[in-house]
Amino acid sequence: MHVLLTGSSGGLGRFLGPRLRALGHRVTGLDVAPGPDTDLVGSVADRSIVSRAFDRGIEAVIHAGALHKPDIARYPAQAFVDCNVTGTLNLLAAAVAAGNDRFVFTSKTSLMISQAIRDEAGDAAIWLDEASGPLAPRNIYGVTKLAAEGLCRLAAAERGLACVVLRTGRFFPEEDDTHRDPSGENLKANEFLNRRLTVEDAAEAHVAALMRAPALGFGLFVLSAPTPFDRAEARDLKRDAAVVIARHFPDAAELYAQRGWTLPASIGRVYDSRLAETALGFRCRTGFAEILDALRDGRPLPFAHDPTYVSPKETGYGGPAFGP
Ligand SMILES: NC(=O)c1ccc[n+]([C@@H]2O[C@H](COP(=O)([O-])OP(=O)(O)OC[C@H]3O[C@@H](n4cnc5c(N)ncnc54)[C@H](O)[C@@H]3O)[C@@H](O)[C@H]2O)c1
Repeated sequence: MHVLLTGSSGGLGRFLGPRLRALGHRVTGLDVAPGPDTDLVGSVADRSIVSRAFDRGIEAVIHAGALHKPDIARYPAQAFVDCNVTGTLNLLAAAVAAGNDRFVFTSKTSLMISQAIRDEAGDAAIWLDEASGPLAPRNIYGVTKLAAEGLCRLAAAERGLACVVLRTGRFFPEEDDTHRDPSGENLKANEFLNRRLTVEDAAEAHVAALMRAPALGFGLFVLSAPTPFDRAEARDLKRDAAVVIARHFPDAAELYAQRGWTLPASIGRVYDSRLAETALGFRCRTGFAEILDALRDGRPLPFAHDPTYVSPKETGYGGPAFGP
């Protein structure tokens, strides 16, 4: 299959491009920043660029290119609308016109996080899955991703283009820009309990979505490492997460202590990716158990941590992609 991969120079794209090629697909990479997997440098918001990409004989789209959370501080709201909404519409229209039979859109779990959910004021952890709602994203990133999801839904319903939306949890390698204690690898390891996955698993989920899309017609899935917890534990997780973690992983506290790490005292939200397992046939390979295995065996951690990572569009060709 000839796949158009947007965001091909980015953190996800640079895993996904080679993975698709290894599976025998032809890949055209489109990104505003150059990169080893990028064939066309330009914006998805530019219809002439999208049309040039489709002139190459595109049969399917994986749309991972986006302005995202760190870009909120860098770009105005209009740039988010141009890239995340207009860009998605351009790609959907081109895919329909070309008679493509599948489209995969990388969305984000954070669009399910309203201010109230973020405040975590309740006395139980909030369970988030595909049925969660009503949705009230709290920033321009979430608002534009939710709009783009809606465009995918419409393209499937009105134009018969099979679309799979992947509401993906965290996989970024850089530091969290708001959370400082704990930080680094400790914070990332903790997040595998409820809200993170590896970039390799994120890439593999896109491959699964590409394969399953025509059979699904439309599908929307939350992606995160499988949580070890059950909804019945929501209150305990909020009150004293360490007790619940010890129930599932008796040696976690000791393994953490050996590394000078701390377990979360309280967990306020859990992304539940069970539907992806049953309907998409995809399950992340790396979860919290695999991280503990690595700690126990003295092996390298099975996830990336790179505090120096910056999106290539900020560094790749000498300047930002969008004007102020
Ligand atoms: N990083 C995460 O933790 C995370 C979590 C969930 C979802 N996502 C989503 O995953 C996708 C990939 O994100 P990433 O983490 O690899 O980020 P990234 O910034 O490393 O990659 C995004 C890529 O999109 C490109 N891009 C930006 N605007 C573009 C445009 N107008 N046209 C074409 N390309 C453009 C950028 O140059 C960049 O290479 C995004 O859609 C993002 O919203 C990321």
